[in-house]
Amino acid sequence: MTQPRVSMGSGRPRVEGRLKVTGAARYAADHQVGDVLYAVIVDSTIGRGRITDVDTSVAVTLPGVRAVISHRNAPRLPYLANPLPNNPAQGERLHALQDDRVHFFGQPVAVVVAGTLEQAQHAATLVRIGYDAETPSLDLASAPANEPITYARGDAGQALLDAPVRLDVTYRTARNHHNPMEPHAVIARWEGDQLTVWDKTQWIFAAQFELAAVFGIPQASVRVLSPYVGGGFGTSLRCWPHAPIAALAARELGRPVKLVLSRRQMYFGTGFRPSYEYRLRIGADRTGRLRAMTHDIRAETSRYENFVESILATGQVLYSLPHVSQHYATVPLDVCTPQYMRGPGYANAAYAIESAMDEVAYRVGVDPVELRHRNEPTEDESTGLPFSTRRLRECLLAGAREFGWSERPRAPRSTRDGDWLIGTGMAAGVYDTARYPAQSRARLDADGTAVVEAATSDMGPGTYTSMTQVAADVLGLDMDRVRFRLGDSLMPFAPPHGGSATMASVGSAVKDACDGIRRQAVTLAVRDPRSPLYGADPGKVVVRRGRLSVRDQPARGETYRRLLDRAGRDHLEAAGSFEPPTGEARYSFYGYAATFAEVAVDARLGIVRVRRMLGVYDAGRIINPVLADSQAIGGMVGGIGTALLEHTVTDPRDGRIANANLADYLVPVNADVPALRAIYVRGEDPEADPLGVKGLGELVHVGVAPAIANAVFHATGRRVRELPITAEMLQ
Ligand code: MOS
Repeated sequence: MTQPRVSMGSGRPRVEGRLKVTGAARYAADHQVGDVLYAVIVDSTIGRGRITDVDTSVAVTLPGVRAVISHRNAPRLPYLANPLPNNPAQGERLHALQDDRVHFFGQPVAVVVAGTLEQAQHAATLVRIGYDAETPSLDLASAPANEPITYARGDAGQALLDAPVRLDVTYRTARNHHNPMEPHAVIARWEGDQLTVWDKTQWIFAAQFELAAVFGIPQASVRVLSPYVGGGFGTSLRCWPHAPIAALAARELGRPVKLVLSRRQMYFGTGFRPSYEYRLRIGADRTGRLRAMTHDIRAETSRYENFVESILATGQVLYSLPHVSQHYATVPLDVCTPQYMRGPGYANAAYAIESAMDEVAYRVGVDPVELRHRNEPTEDESTGLPFSTRRLRECLLAGAREFGWSERPRAPRSTRDGDWLIGTGMAAGVYDTARYPAQSRARLDADGTAVVEAATSDMGPGTYTSMTQVAADVLGLDMDRVRFRLGDSLMPFAPPHGGSATMASVGSAVKDACDGIRRQAVTLAVRDPRSPLYGADPGKVVVRRGRLSVRDQPARGETYRRLLDRAGRDHLEAAGSFEPPTGEARYSFYGYAATFAEVAVDARLGIVRVRRMLGVYDAGRIINPVLADSQAIGGMVGGIGTALLEHTVTDPRDGRIANANLADYLVPVNADVPALRAIYVRGEDPEADPLGVKGLGELVHVGVAPAIANAVFHATGRRVRELPITAEMLQ
């Protein structure tokens, strides 16, 4: 861009930080909506079957209880097909409270509405549901699979037979739940046929389109508001059944209804990272050059929908490999449909592939970092396209240098610190540079302040701040003169706030809208004989702190305010958009990571402690290094959880989740998290999008678990091929 960059690239504090720390930022359930009733969901206590009886006789007599709604008395809703793109789950979605079928343990089967939350909670415990229970199918290893998705290049079967070094290993990963701090919550209010919902969502339009489809009303009749989101990690990218249930209750009762899921309920009806079984066969030569890989992958899905995610790309693009064969089969089980969770697919693939690469390194006696260098491709071998930018080599070099990798002893189990065995490990990672169509609008007022809008979300990465930085630089204003607004379906369309696509997509639309305003202002000035800029070359006009001037002639200029006042305009406005290029692709777009970890393992107890970690990222341009660091630290913390702690345990008899709370489902706490450091290799990606960013939020998570698992092997000499790695596995 011709504008000087002032705030982009600098670590500005969060513009909404004060609102958050003072409690002024309103999350979904915080909104004060008059005349509100409280709803509590009753969920099923069987894992599959039919409802035979709904006994509300006690519940409805309790003080304050206004209604108990189940499939017995709920109106039938249209439940039209939802036309929204980007839905990873194909099939017939759950039609909440519409029939007697139970698809999974914890499915919503009724809702109690009362004057207070406590009244609703109490009454919900007294609704008696009768069931005709069947035995649910819950075993990923033995249940029949769907038709696999396949990919092949070369002849992997033959190449494996011919390879002098062969490996055949299977890795397993646990089901993980997102566990954001803010629970799923919604307030629904009808005014005639117009529905307003205050929702916790990472995608305003997922909620808007789904509620419109469920009730058979125009999208314009549903307004969704979500100005703050207290974490998501993917769970809020789709509209789960509690939202239509709240809207249904509000319509039936003619009053606004607030519904908040309990922490326990968040484990049942709102998706999860599916459990995987990932068998890898690798053929290599004795120098560690890879020849062939076959991937046989099984993953959980539900029986009513087929959830598919990007598990295959990593095996196709991370390393140079003439022969690849992949089979990815989802396995329908009696569970809630899974859902994207941070680094979806790529994180599970990286765990298997990067663990196996570590195994190959020890087999052939090549340093693990060197092994990655030896298998660096020169192009995307799945498409033959050049990489837009690929700086994995730089990530590996910088990481090895900064981590002190060269001091590492080769042999496993060779370093001790008292009772602790010390080891280091590393892993590479890759994540798709996702970009989606996005829109924005901007308005510059004559007083030199601007308002910029897009209906995106900010679940924590700092979208409010980074978008303000983009707008401020393009408009040539200080950040405190610019307000970025988001989280309202009346604003211009934005894509899902996920897949690390927001900065590239919405950011580019914001840039476009602000470019439009700056162009209008410059055109006004150079054509106005009364302007000091009259006749200047528009390409040479820059704006800084609200003042337009000719580059290299700083005295020749004037402020937006003077320009607009003289023109008799009280504001300028412009719409902006971003369209990722469609049609024939010219490049392969990915971000890259190298993660390094040091662990200590108690030699007798098997307890694993992460001692330090370093992530090095090729994510294109970094708009705000302070926000990027919080993304990176969060991604590493999440990876510690996946590697060592997080495991949703289901009871094999009925699908009940046995650890549906934060006391038994372990997530990392401060005591689990050591010094974490992030480095960003320099370089923008001009082919990816006008800002040159590649996305960061997923990338910082994908290589973490295998780096830790590889460090555990180096510390102990024990290869655990299952996550999470627990003390029991190392004793
Ligand atoms: Mo992220 S899994 O796309 O919220």
